Amino acid sequence: MYKKFFLFFASTITVFLATAQNKNLAPTPPMGFMTWNYFALDIDESKVKSLADAMVESGLRDAGYNFIFIDDGWQGGRDNKNNMIPDPKKFPSGMKALVDYVHSKGMKIGIYSDAAPLTCGGYTASLGFEEQDAKTFANWGFDYLKYDYCGAPTDWQTAIKRYQTMSEALKKSGRDITFGICEWGDREPWLWAKKSGGQLWRTTADIRDKWESLNPPKTAYELHSVGAGIMNIVNINAELNKFAGPNGWNDPDMLVVGLYGKKGPSGDLGGVGCTDVEYQSQMSLWCLMASPLMITCDVRNMNDATKRILLNKDVIAIDQDILGVQAERKIKNDTWQMFVKPLSNGDVALGILNVSDKTQTANINLAELGIAGKTKSFDVWGKTTAKISATIKVSVAAHETKIYRLMK
Ligand code: GAL
Repeated sequence: MYKKFFLFFASTITVFLATAQNKNLAPTPPMGFMTWNYFALDIDESKVKSLADAMVESGLRDAGYNFIFIDDGWQGGRDNKNNMIPDPKKFPSGMKALVDYVHSKGMKIGIYSDAAPLTCGGYTASLGFEEQDAKTFANWGFDYLKYDYCGAPTDWQTAIKRYQTMSEALKKSGRDITFGICEWGDREPWLWAKKSGGQLWRTTADIRDKWESLNPPKTAYELHSVGAGIMNIVNINAELNKFAGPNGWNDPDMLVVGLYGKKGPSGDLGGVGCTDVEYQSQMSLWCLMASPLMITCDVRNMNDATKRILLNKDVIAIDQDILGVQAERKIKNDTWQMFVKPLSNGDVALGILNVSDKTQTANINLAELGIAGKTKSFDVWGKTTAKISATIKVSVAAHETKIYRLMK
């Protein structure tokens, strides 16, 4: 009797601890490098190592991009005990050695699987093996799991259940593993993903390396077939601000900054590349929207413009602000989109995007945007400080986003 009671008590405590343990895995949006948009399925251990090296040498790790996220294409099936194994040709030293290497560089590392028998790329996935796979990932030392949804039924209930099952498995795995839900926003995950154990959830179809699809589809779902450009994604994700916060972030997909239309999945469906102004806008908008920042260009070969965009500490600070509020889009018309993001020290970030095709000048009345009591502005791209009054006049190039940090 006592023994039974003790066992019940002990297991309740274990479940409680496991749940509590996973509570603060993403107090700010995760940042790092993700293999998908440039390398697609063509990944291996020497590439991952060289990417980790480049993250350190370029200063990206120290700027906050502390994750390497391995995406689809690492898997080599299961062994005779049904344990998942990496492709032995791509990862001959095994995953533990690779994870140790990345950890030794002061970085964390993520892995990828899917809530069905096979992943989007047709590789072994985790349905029915959730606990076993979560343990395997934990034993290897992974810190993050991106969990995709190819090959799974379309209904909401099944999705919620499958994500919940994997999240429980991760909690029992004995390691803190951040959980990224990737069902592309098709079942409005902002309504249930946090409760199902996710710290972030994709809100849209895959991003392509382009500003905007020429014929914007009527529904978010249709974006899968025409390809989501930066602005198609902004126009979905910006409306979801009230669902984001510490440990539960809207994920508008990876940064295409620096890809310049190079081959890879982001080039599919008309991904022809963007200008540096547009890449700077993506970075600005993602940071205003408190988004995970997942770089996908080849960080071993970045030009100066790409480095300048990705390494702007003042912009990153807006993304990573511990208040964890996603900007509210206050204005949306044919010329302007304006975003307001409150920050933890009382400052306010004001984002001004010119969506038109020519340079425009805005006369912004701060009170109309709900901003009061600010006397100074800091232009986070131009690095200039100015005194401000009730209005701000600013000239913004086509597709450019300016961000001002407004202070007392
Ligand atoms: C997609 C996912 C992409 C990438 C790809 C891998 O479903 O949205 O980000 O992970 O699968 O096959």
